[in-house]
Amino acid sequence: MTCNIEYLNFKSNRLIPFDQFVETVLYKPKIGYYTKKIPFGRTGDFITAPTISNLFSEIISIWIVSSWEELGKPRCFNFVELGPGDGSFAKVFVNTLKKFPNLFNSINIYLYEKSEFLKNIQKEKLKDSKIKWINNFDKINKGPVIFFGNEFFDAIPIKQFTYKKKLLLEKYCYLDHVKGFKEVYQRAKIEDIKEIKNFRVLKDLKFIEFPKLGILEMSKIVKKIKKLSGGVLLIDYGYTKLLNRSTIQMVMQNKKVRTDDFFKNVGKADITSLVNFSLLKEYFLKNQMNVKKIVTQKFFLEKMGIVERAKILEKKMDLKQKNYMLSTLNRLLNKKLMGDLFKVIFAFKSKSNNFLGFK
Ligand SMILES: C[S@@+](CC[C@H](N)C(=O)[O-])C[C@H]1O[C@@H](n2cnc3c(N)ncnc32)[C@H](O)[C@@H]1O
Repeated sequence: MTCNIEYLNFKSNRLIPFDQFVETVLYKPKIGYYTKKIPFGRTGDFITAPTISNLFSEIISIWIVSSWEELGKPRCFNFVELGPGDGSFAKVFVNTLKKFPNLFNSINIYLYEKSEFLKNIQKEKLKDSKIKWINNFDKINKGPVIFFGNEFFDAIPIKQFTYKKKLLLEKYCYLDHVKGFKEVYQRAKIEDIKEIKNFRVLKDLKFIEFPKLGILEMSKIVKKIKKLSGGVLLIDYGYTKLLNRSTIQMVMQNKKVRTDDFFKNVGKADITSLVNFSLLKEYFLKNQMNVKKIVTQKFFLEKMGIVERAKILEKKMDLKQKNYMLSTLNRLLNKKLMGDLFKVIFAFKSKSNNFLGFK
């Protein structure tokens, strides 16, 4: 199957900022990548931690239980999963919470999902009446709130910029009738230049990736947390030492696709970018949030006791089950696999500060 250009409904020669182009390709109702097939899991294009192993979801669930305790066991408590994918995390989360009746009776569980197609998949999988789907956070008005997103931020399209002499230029895409999709750099908008110049971490870069849409999402989350207390835990693949290049990745059938074939594979592959965790941290700090030290997924999961939990579970397993569990654990923790590349950041506003997993 090749990318059918008309299919994506682009008008010829209209310039579209790169983030909006990717947004259309991924999320435009009925035709976008995330709106017509399940991209996750072994039969999909990529595997995420909750679809690799229930252990991951169990450990995050325990972290949420411990954070509720840290927040003083409030009688009214809210949890929002950002971008729940195929619902794998939420399923384990609800089952785990049932072992903590005090929390289970106090918690409102919300799923925040953009794709109607995925929402239906989630509703099929998650029949528990505790779970509610929301398109904004207006309903959350009482009690602290914890937001959690695994591979949420990386799925939100970014803007790309470069300097020509001292001029900041933004990447745009357009559809040429004869040659297909093309890219071109145009003068950046003043409001974007101002915003970018405000970030210390972007100062010395010649090539800039700026998650404008992601920050817009974070601004709604930060506003809620500042009003109600709580925090946001994000796990994603990304970096803290600055990169000076495009980090766009395309993945199809669990293999990376060459990004010089970007336009050829548009619509057929997932498109993500590496998350700039230093920028996220700077954003949260600028907005008067506290931020825990950024740690790797390996560090966080080990601190939260994932290895000990696996040892308990393996006692009840036969050899085949045990080997399978250990191979998935290795995938999550191995530094050459997901262990180091994935990072964890927690930004919060609360009287307490002793949230687990970061030291
Ligand atoms: C890469 S998937 C990760 C899914 C899941 N968290 C996991 O780890 O398996 C990204 C998810 O975020 C959702 N998403 C992306 N942008 C979103 C937005 N702005 N608002 C709500 N959901 C969004 C996608 O539809 C998808 O469910």
